[in-house]
Amino acid sequence: MATLQNDTLLRALRREPTPYTPIWLMRQAGRYLPEYNAVRGRAGSFMALATTPSLATEVTLQPLERFALDAAILFSDILTVPDAMGLGLSFTEGEGPRFAVPVRDEAAVAALAVPDMAKLRYVFDAVGEIKRALDGRVPLIGFAGSPFTLACYMIEGGASDDFATVRRMAHARPDLLDRLIDVVARAVRAYVREQAAAGADVIMLFDTWGGLLTAPAFERWSLASMRHVLDTVPRGIPTILFSRGAGDRLGRLVASGAYCVAVDWAVDLDAARRTHGAQAAFQGNLDPQVLLTDAATVERAARAVLASAGPAPGHIFNLGHGIVPATPPELVRVLVDTVHRESQRREP
Ligand code: CP3
Repeated sequence: MATLQNDTLLRALRREPTPYTPIWLMRQAGRYLPEYNAVRGRAGSFMALATTPSLATEVTLQPLERFALDAAILFSDILTVPDAMGLGLSFTEGEGPRFAVPVRDEAAVAALAVPDMAKLRYVFDAVGEIKRALDGRVPLIGFAGSPFTLACYMIEGGASDDFATVRRMAHARPDLLDRLIDVVARAVRAYVREQAAAGADVIMLFDTWGGLLTAPAFERWSLASMRHVLDTVPRGIPTILFSRGAGDRLGRLVASGAYCVAVDWAVDLDAARRTHGAQAAFQGNLDPQVLLTDAATVERAARAVLASAGPAPGHIFNLGHGIVPATPPELVRVLVDTVHRESQRREP
């Protein structure tokens, strides 16, 4: 494998100095890009796109052709793992993900098993093909959902505003949730190990819904299972934990041993870096809605995030959550160029 021409992301994750602040964006390959919509249209569906390695490779590279991003992220989805467990994933326009078989009772939990990783071969093949196509330009981020966030979708059977069924199960049937999280965590462990073996340079865990839990429940189901997954990532592969809405739990996330904690826009990055910056890198945290304003606002907001992160190493610029489909690509260019230019100016 070629050595990396741009390793600013890996250096920042290790809290080493970089010539500028690296930037990549959650959902950087997606519906805000007309060329993505064209490939998705040809593929017929999101799952057809994600399960065809050559197409997943093509869309992974699309944002890198347009913008000077410092990382690629595997084009896939966190829900591929429950799909491989036999839940029957589909995506419907405007509605988001759906599982044909939600997991709600004893029998459904008892029927779950760690899937044969051969069912997810298309993901590992995509990792290999993307690495070859990148040819060392930038590192490739592999990822998985946190076991708790996957359990949320499995129990609810799809997207939800409040995941009420999951929260009720956490209170009334903690034993059932324990068993569900245990099997999902073992599946996610195998999944991230295979991505690393296929060539992923970084592993990121998305805990989109951990912030819904009470503090003790967060520790029991979200954090403990993420630590279990992190334990299996080969030493030397940097890890990023994104836990949305966990701003008051940063100390515990940092103590997980992840190289980096990714934070949403509600987090005070200045305070986070002052308190925990010696133990972990931080990634974030521009409000994605900024990218639906205008160039001057984007520049001003980007400078404000850089200022709150401070000049020391260990900051990776990103959004606080995924890019919104209505984002004009031109403002993404303004953001990437502003972060590179302004952070260069700030380094000693
Ligand atoms: O560019 C990238 O960031 C890599 C690809 C990626 C996707 N999903 C592609 C995708 C990544 C890292 C994800 C993670 C993911 N998926 C998360 C965690 C991060 C987060 O957003 O909180 C979650 C919760 C999911 C589950 C999921 N996938 C939902 C709720 C939806 C529907 C909502 C939506 O945005 O449409 C998806 C679909 C999805 N995953 C799309 C993309 C590009 C859009 C599907 C399409 O093209 O129709």
